[in-house]
Amino acid sequence: MKEQIHQVTLNFADGVSRSFSVAAKNSILDAALAAEVPLLYQCQSGSCSSCIAHLSEGDAVTRPGASSTLLASEYAAGQRLLCLCQAQSDCTFELDYGSEVGSSAAREAHAFVDSIERIASNVMRLTLELAEGDWLEFRPGQFMQIEVPGYGAVRSYSPSSTAVVLPKLEFLVRLLPGGAMSGYLEEKANSEDVLTLSGPYGAFFLREEKRRAPHIFVAGGTGLAPILSMIDALHQGSGRKPPMLLSFGCAIPDALFCLDDIELRQQWLPTLEARICVDREPGPGLHHGSPVSALRAEDVTSPETVAYLCGPQPMIDAATARLIELGVDPANIFAEQFVASN
Ligand code: FES
Repeated sequence: MKEQIHQVTLNFADGVSRSFSVAAKNSILDAALAAEVPLLYQCQSGSCSSCIAHLSEGDAVTRPGASSTLLASEYAAGQRLLCLCQAQSDCTFELDYGSEVGSSAAREAHAFVDSIERIASNVMRLTLELAEGDWLEFRPGQFMQIEVPGYGAVRSYSPSSTAVVLPKLEFLVRLLPGGAMSGYLEEKANSEDVLTLSGPYGAFFLREEKRRAPHIFVAGGTGLAPILSMIDALHQGSGRKPPMLLSFGCAIPDALFCLDDIELRQQWLPTLEARICVDREPGPGLHHGSPVSALRAEDVTSPETVAYLCGPQPMIDAATARLIELGVDPANIFAEQFVASN
């Protein structure tokens, strides 16, 4: 039987379109990469959501038997993970990032442990310095994969720093009982250890073209890391700074961290408002409740408002629903799920 070939068109957010052929049995991501189309991707197995795209024309389905992180409602609305997706007709997809974004391909690098500091009951700040001759580019919000020495495990973390301070990279690591990175940092790590990391990965990053719009950031736990990187990038950019609201929460006051860093940023950035939230044991100046419950109707002042969410999936779902209710365009809401792995 003759192999079925379809034509796929990918429309990038900057107006660039790329078309290529794909055999019906092959994934659209594989065909795109073979055609040197600069797509974002990482796991190639349906678990990281980096390769998400919106099907606007034609028919394309998830490979039978494959399991993906997409919700049934997202799939029904046309979202597809291109690494698992097979074309059943000629089809067109929309990408929410520009064609230049995927061109900074992930690479491997080595870095020395510069410092390790416990900054809350269950959070450590890990600072690395890239080895001489090694380099990694990244956009604020993207993540790296770090091999945990001696554990045969790889973990994903978003830098809380920006590319401006390279070769230094800073990460916020949530400590988990029995966690590989937790065990390494608490018991084995020494300054001058050499770690192997790779990146950048992920489609969660600051949209430069929207930097003048009001920004709302919602962060839960160490989901604060990429958000700090984004706020710093807005500060480092030229021109007038947009109004920014950061709503950041942890379970209890003891679990909070980086409050000094947030205060410092408020001194640099008078347009940055911060709401610090705890689920339990609220103290003076703290909002009692989740970072989503701290959002108010008057926070959305413009139809251009852009929102970045990073934390556990239930927080992201609740924040997305609340922001849409307050009038934020769903196309302007970007989210990264924070997944704990032991
Ligand atoms: S590349 Fe990770 S879900 Fe497709």
